[in-house]
Amino acid sequence: MPKTKIFSGKEVSEAVYKNLQPRISRLKQQGITPGLAVILVGNDPASQVYVRSKGRKFNKLDLFSETIMLPVDIDEDSLISKIHELNNDNRFHGILVQLPLPKHLDSNKILFEVNPKKDVDGFHPVNIGKLALGEPQFIPCTPKGVMRIFDHYNIELSGKHVVVVGRSNIVGRPLSILTSLKTSYANATTTICHSGTPDIPKIAKQADVLIAAIGVPEMIDETYVKPGAIMIDVGINRVEDDSEKGYKLVGDVNFESVIGIATAITPVPGGVGPMTIAMRVENTVEAAELDL
Ligand SMILES: NC(=O)c1ccc[n+]([C@@H]2O[C@H](COP(=O)([O-])OP(=O)(O)OC[C@H]3O[C@@H](n4cnc5c(N)ncnc54)[C@H](OP(=O)(O)O)[C@@H]3O)[C@@H](O)[C@H]2O)c1
Repeated sequence: MPKTKIFSGKEVSEAVYKNLQPRISRLKQQGITPGLAVILVGNDPASQVYVRSKGRKFNKLDLFSETIMLPVDIDEDSLISKIHELNNDNRFHGILVQLPLPKHLDSNKILFEVNPKKDVDGFHPVNIGKLALGEPQFIPCTPKGVMRIFDHYNIELSGKHVVVVGRSNIVGRPLSILTSLKTSYANATTTICHSGTPDIPKIAKQADVLIAAIGVPEMIDETYVKPGAIMIDVGINRVEDDSEKGYKLVGDVNFESVIGIATAITPVPGGVGPMTIAMRVENTVEAAELDL
């Protein structure tokens, strides 16, 4: 059975932080501390945990971050005023609106109000448009993190067939754009699958690089994988178990079933997750550098 290499997001993210150190020092010498404002609406426990872990990373790197907690029933106008206030606050180079927002708020309308120069999540239509035109400024953090994993492990995408399962605006869609850009780091032939795609295993089995961004625990098993494929598992799903916590985290890939078939795979946890946080830090540093 061929050995499957584990692509460690932890290892790659440590390299990212190391490379950021001189850039952060340079900013600090100019009196600039990269700052991120995180807007958290409501009290979803999973979002709170996630936002806290982001905050810890910023503190550890001696960067500035502040979480703005807003009530679950906040109206659209009040939330937009808060965003405008943060757009004009020089302490913050990045503004992040934690998704999902409560149902009464229109996420697209809200995200549109973030100054594109502070849109470190890359969700503003201006930044998505720039990405689609092949001139990205802020690239959404999870897709950017996946591309950095390819770069770190010297995976050449040019000429390869990439299959992305999932077409969300925050993961699958930007990854399909990124991997197919006419650039030295991409240039793949990309196919995107979704819930309306008949026979996904047949398409996935043609992939040299298979990316799962679905949100269905362990959906992708050996029947989807061409021997020798490289696999990226973006999924983070909680499934109940008998542990003290009452749940465990699993990806969209059935990890055990593809070991020995895939050439390489990202684990869950410890794969794409740490990269998303690292890219958010990197994008915030990039936003701060616009002030130099
Ligand atoms: N590692 C990280 O840092 C990170 C960051 C973000 C998200 N995630 C995880 O990544 C996963 C995807 O997140 P997301 O925000 O992209 O989710 P999403 O917005 O729910 O999108 C899921 C996509 O998968 C497709 N899909 C769902 N069920 C399917 C099925 N049975 N067959 C084929 N396609 C199916 C959907 O198709 P339709 O478009 O047709 O509905 C949609 O395009 C989740 O587990 C999430 O927790 C991880």
